[in-house]
Amino acid sequence: MSVEPIQLIRHRRGAWRLRHTPGQLQQLQQLLDAHSFWASGRSRRDLSLMLAGSQAAISAWQGSRLVGFGRATSDGVFRAVLWDVVVAGEHQGRGLGRKIVEALLGEPALRGVERTYLMTTNSAGFYEQLGFTAADCQKLMLRFSDEKPNQRDSTTDVEDQTKKIDSQ
Ligand SMILES: CC(C)(COP(=O)(O)OP(=O)(O)OC[C@H]1O[C@@H](n2cnc3c(N)ncnc32)[C@H](O)[C@@H]1OP(=O)(O)O)[C@@H](O)C(=O)NCCC(=O)NCCS
Repeated sequence: MSVEPIQLIRHRRGAWRLRHTPGQLQQLQQLLDAHSFWASGRSRRDLSLMLAGSQAAISAWQGSRLVGFGRATSDGVFRAVLWDVVVAGEHQGRGLGRKIVEALLGEPALRGVERTYLMTTNSAGFYEQLGFTAADCQKLMLRFSDEKPNQRDSTTDVEDQTKKIDSQ
């Protein structure tokens, strides 16, 4: 029996198609629920907002099945952060995670950026093979919020938001 090849998709900023193609957001939710501890239990509404606010996203498909994902936020010059790199269990250990991270690092929003950060609990060895080193000189700090995120779609109303802030 032939195995279907895996195809990587580079999403445009905000990943509109991944958010709006029926069933795709649900598959992302299921992938994160099944294979990540930090991103399980996220609602589809919030995942959609998350994608809208990401400057780069890569998805990996075997036929119509989502088998891998990764995304990044970036200011395009100084700082970028990788988030939510996940490969479906049966595809792990075959080089797909590496391809996803390499594709993310090659995206225009990340290429040439001075520093790219990430946070990992169990996969430091994986990222070391991709050129990352432990930042022992820095301390990770966190602030939690009880507020719900803004529901507006950040890919469509940048000018509008600027006006609002200026007039306050
Ligand atoms: C971590 C993860 C994304 C790696 O993807 P993958 O497709 O399994 O990794 P690859 O096959 O591309 O591995 C590339 C190399 O990294 C190594 N590697 C993979 N996972 C590793 C880990 N957790 N620790 C150390 N090395 C690891 C592999 O052995 C391989 O080395 P090799 O080229 O010498 O054989 C995947 O295992 C996964 O989704 N895990 C669960 C979610 C998770 O923890 N994500 C990381 C978020 S920070």
